[in-house]
Amino acid sequence: MRKPLIAGNWNMHKTVAEAIEACRILETLVQDDQVETVICAPFTCLSALAALGMKKVKIAAQNMFYEEQGAYTGEISPVMLRDVGCDYVIIGHSERREYFGETDETVNKKVHTALKFDIKPIVCVGESLEQRKNGQTESLVTSQVEQAFSGVDEADAQKIVVAYEPIWAIGTGETASAEEANRVIKIIRATLKNLYSEEVAANIRIQYGGSVKLENIKELMEQSDIDGALVGGASLNPETFASMINYKSLK
Ligand code: PGA
Repeated sequence: MRKPLIAGNWNMHKTVAEAIEACRILETLVQDDQVETVICAPFTCLSALAALGMKKVKIAAQNMFYEEQGAYTGEISPVMLRDVGCDYVIIGHSERREYFGETDETVNKKVHTALKFDIKPIVCVGESLEQRKNGQTESLVTSQVEQAFSGVDEADAQKIVVAYEPIWAIGTGETASAEEANRVIKIIRATLKNLYSEEVAANIRIQYGGSVKLENIKELMEQSDIDGALVGGASLNPETFASMINYKSLK
């Protein structure tokens, strides 16, 4: 059984004080221990959030570098993320790919070093509107998954979470329909089956991301292959985000 994972990606939002306040509220409102809850916070907030000792909310970074240490001004290593108590790290978010030169090759390197330091990667894949219009969704997503998992053994592969985030749906208010998101996620699972086995593929959690909100989370989560959500804008308000995590009580 795959335990659903709902992660809030705060992007470049929140000071330390705001982050602490939001997490305190979340920790009181999150009810469902059948759902794993993760907050992907800015680097500057991570140690303050870890110090809260939250029981229901795990902490993630939004990026990291693939080297352990060295002359890489401005970068943060997996050793540092482990040190502040990060359980997860987002790797290859489309904004990193678009604005900061992330490639499938650097994604794969980051996946390997995150796993080495026992940080679980949340690997983002997804097509642009143009790629979708050109009928490239399936081939692109398959190739992104194959490259991200390259050289990862069966045991480690099952620690990775994949987030299918169509770029045209991120921050735009446009969501893929629940059926369409599930269809692409099934293709991702079939790719994982080809790379590993049916059993391994059945254990890997695949989230949907892109304008997930209170109004659509339940329908998305009810799909057969959608194991969680990567939520951007709607995760900034802790009351709203808690209601999304408690989606089973939504009408
Ligand atoms: P959104 O962002 O939910 O605001 O579309 C998703 C993300 O940042 O990954």
